[in-house]
Amino acid sequence: MSVATVMRSHMCGALRPADVGQTVRLCGWVQRRRDLGGLVFLDLRDREGVVQVVVNPTEVGPEAARAADAVRAEFVVRVEGPVVRRPEGTVNARLATGEVEVRAQAVEILAPSLTPPFSPGDEADPDEALRLRYRYLDLRRPRMVANLLLRHRTAMAVRRALDALGFVEVETPMLIRSTPEGARDFIVPSRLQPGKFYALPQSPQLFKQLLMVAGLDRYFQIVRCFRDEDLRADRQPEFTQIDVEMSFVGQDDIIAVTETVVATAVESVRGVRVATPFPRLSYADTMLRYGSDKPDLRVDLEIADLTPLAATSGIERFAAAAATGGVLRGLRVPGCAGASRRELDELTAVAVAAGAGGLAPLALVAGGPRGPLARRLTEGAVAAVAERTGAREGDLVLLVAGPEPVVAAALGRLRLDVAERYGLRRDDGALRFVWVTGFPLLEWSDADGRYTPVHHPFTAPMIEDLPLLATHPGRVRAQAHDLVLNGVELGGGSIRIHDRAVQERVFDLLGIGAEEARARFGFLLEALQYGAPPHGGIALGLDRFVMLLAGEATIREVIAFPKTASAADLLTGAPGEVDPALLRDAHIAVIAD
Ligand code: AMO
Repeated sequence: MSVATVMRSHMCGALRPADVGQTVRLCGWVQRRRDLGGLVFLDLRDREGVVQVVVNPTEVGPEAARAADAVRAEFVVRVEGPVVRRPEGTVNARLATGEVEVRAQAVEILAPSLTPPFSPGDEADPDEALRLRYRYLDLRRPRMVANLLLRHRTAMAVRRALDALGFVEVETPMLIRSTPEGARDFIVPSRLQPGKFYALPQSPQLFKQLLMVAGLDRYFQIVRCFRDEDLRADRQPEFTQIDVEMSFVGQDDIIAVTETVVATAVESVRGVRVATPFPRLSYADTMLRYGSDKPDLRVDLEIADLTPLAATSGIERFAAAAATGGVLRGLRVPGCAGASRRELDELTAVAVAAGAGGLAPLALVAGGPRGPLARRLTEGAVAAVAERTGAREGDLVLLVAGPEPVVAAALGRLRLDVAERYGLRRDDGALRFVWVTGFPLLEWSDADGRYTPVHHPFTAPMIEDLPLLATHPGRVRAQAHDLVLNGVELGGGSIRIHDRAVQERVFDLLGIGAEEARARFGFLLEALQYGAPPHGGIALGLDRFVMLLAGEATIREVIAFPKTASAADLLTGAPGEVDPALLRDAHIAVIAD
């Protein structure tokens, strides 16, 4: 499609040597203005990039000369003139347009600009608060333009891929009854029904299930979700999901569709084909080998179980841990036997912060192992540790003993820490996808004194684990799948419960009594009685996907207008006060804290 309009003929950043000889009309922002030897040089920028415009005040008319004299940074101007090859020696290899320049015949100021608080042309990041406050200037920066374009291309590729697979995009409501996904709801007061509230959707979960009952068969939606939770680098209060649901499927079908969609999107934006199928890990396996349910497979290091060695290791603490149902595990850190005292103290602090009682480092050096426990460890134990962890002379082994979840978490954290610290992570832009399956259905919450869902309450248990629901609910596994990319949870989904009785039993285990279940989810329970097909699905975080594709560290970089850590929009000043009349209409009285 042509970008030509009544005002311009070409985009600034798109000019190339092939355009030499053409007279073009350009519109853009002045990134820089320089006066050199009687000539005025303007770096003119638009979405596509920057091109150099040269104005010779003695050769253009008086109006153009005045305009060229008056322009400042970020003025919007219109320029007309021929594209010429740059003179020998002045080619700029860093610019895509660097072999050409435009000799202005006319220059017109379309809009002046105040002096901007930062220059969109600067490579260094301005202060983040300033970037968010002046987001429209921030979004002029090439990196941000590239991120928005990448996001657009990713979403388009996802839509096309799902459409080709027979998925139908359906919009679900934003003013709804609460759908629990484990976060707090944003609520909206009802004016017409005093004292009642809508919730903004944490996800379209129940609507997509109802669409399966309706017979839609394959649904998707690229949809905004809202969760009032503490924000982190990969969390925003409003974010976008690629939400998918399908009927008459098993987990393998959902996994295959997701892999096709994800691989198609990666290929369309990166030009490379990621290998499918993605590897799969069971929850138990990933917790043991990587100490995390979102393993970063760009790091090759694996945790080894050493529990069988604990009793005969010669170390009281290890033996005690194993004797009381705990574990002993170790992580090999290749080539780091020479780690300093300070480094070992820092690694210990990482383990302790993760809840471990301590950390036992063991350096394998010529002449016998070194470390606080080295002398007390039996020779056989040292050899067995080396064998099980794969450690050789020159390596460091980090040993942690204690209750299983704590040891897994501590070594999981250490694995990432040493990878970062010692450069043991592949940072070449690799995308390492992995599925995690076989999650527990429920986890016990000490705080609530009851079970809570690991995913959401609509996740189906594994058929073979159904008998355990009555006896050992904590041991029931879910038909759930998480997709992990480079250590980030990219998406999650499951086969759903499509049987009312099973759904009611799960509600009961979650402490949702029959009455409450009817009040909150009566519509779902009812729908399950009108011919609900077996169904399941997944939702991928679009923001996280684009963040990882862009190589950014936070999703704020790939969202046009994100919120700060305190959920504020620094540009518009949201959240803000509202007109008291609106509050009155909504039957709301504000109570000062
Ligand atoms: P879940 O809660 O796992 O599943 O969410 C799916 C994916 O959405 C993304 N995500 C977020 N991204 C940015 N900011 C947030 N606050 C945020 N919260 C979640 C993550 C996550 O993996 N209804 C189920 C899906 C299903 O079962 O089909 C759901 O919402 O990438």
